[in-house]
Amino acid sequence: MKVIAHRGYSGLYPENTMLAFKKAAEAGCDGIEMDVQLSKDGQVVIIHDETVDRVTGSSGLVRELTVHELQKLNASGKFGEQFGFNTIPTLDEYCGWVKNLGIFTNIELKCNQFFYEGLAEETITVVKKHGIEDRVLFSSFNHVSLLDCKKIAPGIPCGILVAGNGIGNAGYYAASHGLEYYHPDIETLTREAVEDCRSRGIKLNVYTVNDMEGLITLKTLGCDGIITNFPDVCKKWLDSV
Ligand code: G3P
Ligand code: MG
Repeated sequence: MKVIAHRGYSGLYPENTMLAFKKAAEAGCDGIEMDVQLSKDGQVVIIHDETVDRVTGSSGLVRELTVHELQKLNASGKFGEQFGFNTIPTLDEYCGWVKNLGIFTNIELKCNQFFYEGLAEETITVVKKHGIEDRVLFSSFNHVSLLDCKKIAPGIPCGILVAGNGIGNAGYYAASHGLEYYHPDIETLTREAVEDCRSRGIKLNVYTVNDMEGLITLKTLGCDGIITNFPDVCKKWLDSV
């Protein structure tokens, strides 16, 4: 089972920063999950919320700030001085770093509160610029965004993110849209969904699992990946079960 670091090594370091990504790689993760949106000037930036408020302590909508304005903010601001100054990374900066490593990247397109027209195109442009198409997996709660990705870059796999009640016919849903992965949260995961996915060749990555009990559940059900805030802890647990 692959260990995927959720927002980087976000259990110990500021989420979605280069620091958290580098620490995740050092921790031996197989993949890194991150969240992307578009800045006011159309660049792909890595940040989870639609506003900068929670992580930076400043305020404003990501989509109303240019990259230059965003990068004046401290992405670890909510921790005070603890981690110094960390910028909100661009996807370009991240890809320039990760392309030299053997890990893969799960890029989650945040098109929830706002639909960012062009996010799929821009994201794929950056990924292709760095030649890492073969080590990328897209996911989104907005499944239309995944269909956009498929139109532009059919060879890059996509995962359907779900929460709440999930999707009863998850495997059929994914397969009938040409999507390769199902990404439920652990509370949403059901044996029926796993079996439906398995029978149709759909792979499963499950978020956000930070305890041994959850890990054993995923392993027992035969899931492909665990998305976790603590990649090294999960690696050790996996070696021990
Ligand atoms: O991709 C898994 C997980 O990141 C989805 O939820 O809110 O943490 O982006 P969220
Ligand atoms: Mg995410």
